[in-house]
Amino acid sequence: MVDEKTTASVRRKYNRVARFYDMRFMKMDDRLHKEIWKYARGKVLEVGVGTGKNIPFYPKDVEVTAIDFSEKMLEKAVKKRDELGAKVDLRLMDAQKMDFPDRTFDTVITTCVFCTVPDPVAGLREIRRVCKPDGQVVMLEHVRSCRPVLGALMDWLNPLVYGLIGTNINRNTVENVKKAGLTVTRVEKLWGDILLKIIARP
Ligand SMILES: C[S@@+](CC[C@H](N)C(=O)[O-])C[C@H]1O[C@@H](n2cnc3c(N)ncnc32)[C@H](O)[C@@H]1O
Repeated sequence: MVDEKTTASVRRKYNRVARFYDMRFMKMDDRLHKEIWKYARGKVLEVGVGTGKNIPFYPKDVEVTAIDFSEKMLEKAVKKRDELGAKVDLRLMDAQKMDFPDRTFDTVITTCVFCTVPDPVAGLREIRRVCKPDGQVVMLEHVRSCRPVLGALMDWLNPLVYGLIGTNINRNTVENVKKAGLTVTRVEKLWGDILLKIIARP
């Protein structure tokens, strides 16, 4: 069962964060974000589109649907889509209970989202459900470090970061992907062991 109270609280935080998200983070990781979109094939779902950081990187030959549960983040994504003339179906939707039928998408992409989804395993189970059996899930996610000192520091700082912006800096997302019943086919370390590219199949 999805915890509605926590979900509402994280949504409220992202509605606040929307005001400064592009200022603070837009210039970060453009190369890594762009690279993730090379995996997009066919019908693509972007979960947690945010303010639309990835919209400029959508390949022309795919059909993208993108969701977010924060109205304010999504408003910015709509503006970006219209400015860029991009073709993307943007929808206000909770990743923990999506409206799409089973086996809808060939590719599901997330960038820096599963640090925030209140119940990450529920969200990942939904991704498994809406992804076609021969489809692929591609994620760019920051996670807790396995190094003892850095990992402990991340645990210590997490309540502060979560309280401010609704992001968890100490999640074990690879483990969550497995718990959701997805099969992890590749994990690539991008910044030490705290930023990962994770590829999985339903
Ligand atoms: C850190 S931002 C990342 C945005 C974008 N993917 C990027 O790379 O810039 C996380 C986004 O995930 C969204 N999000 C978190 N939980 C969600 C959920 N349960 N359903 C839909 N979107 C969610 C937040 O509203 C926020 O826009």
